[in-house]
Amino acid sequence: MKVLIVGASGGIGKALVSHYRNNDHDVSTISSQLTNPHLATSDYSPNALEVDWLKQPGELADFFSYLKSQDRLPEAIISCTGFLHEADHLPEKKLTELDHKFFTRNMELNCYSHVLISQIIEQTYKRKDQLKLVCLSAKVGSISDNHLGGWYSYRMSKAALNMFIKTLSIEWSRSRPNSIVAALHPGTTDTTLSEPFQKRISPDKLYSSSLTAERIASVVANLNADDSGKLLFWDGSALGY
Ligand SMILES: NC(=O)c1ccc[n+]([C@@H]2O[C@H](COP(=O)([O-])OP(=O)(O)OC[C@H]3O[C@@H](n4cnc5c(N)ncnc54)[C@H](OP(=O)(O)O)[C@@H]3O)[C@@H](O)[C@H]2O)c1
Repeated sequence: MKVLIVGASGGIGKALVSHYRNNDHDVSTISSQLTNPHLATSDYSPNALEVDWLKQPGELADFFSYLKSQDRLPEAIISCTGFLHEADHLPEKKLTELDHKFFTRNMELNCYSHVLISQIIEQTYKRKDQLKLVCLSAKVGSISDNHLGGWYSYRMSKAALNMFIKTLSIEWSRSRPNSIVAALHPGTTDTTLSEPFQKRISPDKLYSSSLTAERIASVVANLNADDSGKLLFWDGSALGY
């Protein structure tokens, strides 16, 4: 299968790249980090785009055009981009901690990044092309599942992503009959994103990135039209919004 991992340098993204490469898939990658210092952005030969693509969406469009010209347009795209905390800012515990800059960053990385990828798909793919698009979301973005509160910006941005996926699935059911789009909760995974909160999690509920990658790949392989628009759990079952 031709697969594209967006966010290839993150904990789950990197594990997905390894998983698919080890299983002989044709893997392309997009990362906002320069992980390969020898890679010029004008040279896509290793099928890797490494540029701050949220600020330079033109590079993203050029990369998809390049993949198309090479007959390597992905049949599956897994968009791993996400954000929960930064060095001087943990997620909010209460309303007074919510600030505009941190909220905007959450919205940009957790929601708008996936919008941008979908818009490039819209420009590049033909109406009848087969495509599975899976965007990593989070169970904490489920409104009906919110029993603990806190984490305002992350929760709101993932809820917005879930609504985007649902809305896009309705549009694509009419305009792109062979495309499936779903949000997926990967489970709590041992990465930089979850690191500050791992003490509260029992070891059997904290999964390695390689196990999470295996589970995501299995969901992607079994994805069908009925899943479009849903928020899926890592075992493929549907979570309530
Ligand atoms: N780990 C968990 O327990 C857990 C639980 C639920 C949901 N999730 C979700 O799973 C996804 C992957 O999380 P992770 O645990 O692998 O976290 P991570 O290691 O922190 O990775 C973060 C991801 O965001 C991308 N990213 C960061 N800054 C970016 C920027 N400025 N522009 C574009 N991309 C940027 C990174 O890719 P590049 O640096 O390569 O661009 C990477 O794929 C996220 O959406 C997260 O919300 C994770």
